[in-house]
Amino acid sequence: MKINSGHEALTDDQLLALIDPTRLPRHVAIIMDGNGRWAETRGLPRIAGHHEGIQSVRDAVTACRELGIYALTIYAFSMENWQRPQDEVKELMMLLEGYLQKEMPALMEHRIRFKTIGRIHRLPDSVVHWIREAESATSANDQMVLTIALSYGGRAEIVDAILKLYDDLQQGVFPRESVDEALVGQYLTTADLPDPDLMIRTSGETRISNFLLWQMAYTELYFTPTLWPDFRRRDFLLALIDYQHRERRFGQVKTPPHPRRKVRQG
Ligand code: IPE
Ligand code: IPE
Ligand code: MG
Repeated sequence: MKINSGHEALTDDQLLALIDPTRLPRHVAIIMDGNGRWAETRGLPRIAGHHEGIQSVRDAVTACRELGIYALTIYAFSMENWQRPQDEVKELMMLLEGYLQKEMPALMEHRIRFKTIGRIHRLPDSVVHWIREAESATSANDQMVLTIALSYGGRAEIVDAILKLYDDLQQGVFPRESVDEALVGQYLTTADLPDPDLMIRTSGETRISNFLLWQMAYTELYFTPTLWPDFRRRDFLLALIDYQHRERRFGQVKTPPHPRRKVRQG
């Protein structure tokens, strides 16, 4: 079903008016993909696409903040991305460091808490330094949470959770019977966040690529061919409109919109 067809002619304000403020996702997760292709189609080095993608990150953060979406989680670097050419990894790290330094005033001004998930210790020391700075400076901010998944893998996160949970069980922190889904969720790095309601992936790829595997059990998935550097405020609004047309059932049956008509007897 193509919900967004016919919306091309609408202005951003008209799109905004189509969004029901009472049915917004609380948590949006994004796989920002397609930076390399964006650059390659322009004959530019891949890093130019990563640079351009930063403006799309700003747009997504601003849209969430303005609409009142509490949590935004963006996948910036996966565990698997370490296997990319060293030059690209290095440039990505420099870009990240620059982003953290530059965005701090805006995060403070808008009371956005910054957090990271992933195996951060693998990142260069200077990046870790800026991450810790940003996390501690923004820790009391309460308007929104911006989480960046860095050196992140959903399976690695589950492995880490299992190991911690096992240790706590061994030490008798709680009995075996109390282990349930909610408790496992508390051992994940997203323990303080609601599960994502909406996951957006750009660039036309329709896979999860090891992102938030546990947390996305019932997330609505939105795939768009738009490359991440082209995915701006308007595209984000279109994704929200599409989301609001979904019927989330969580495995249950659809509630009939009208009372059933009585079957006429005789
Ligand atoms: C996403 O863009 C950013 C990262 C994974 C760091 P890509 O770099 O994967 O771009 P494509 O998919 O090669 O076009
Ligand atoms: C997923 O994109 C990871 C990030 C966006 C950080 P990739 O480009 O690395 O994923 P694959 O290789 O297409 O699955
Ligand atoms: Mg990619």
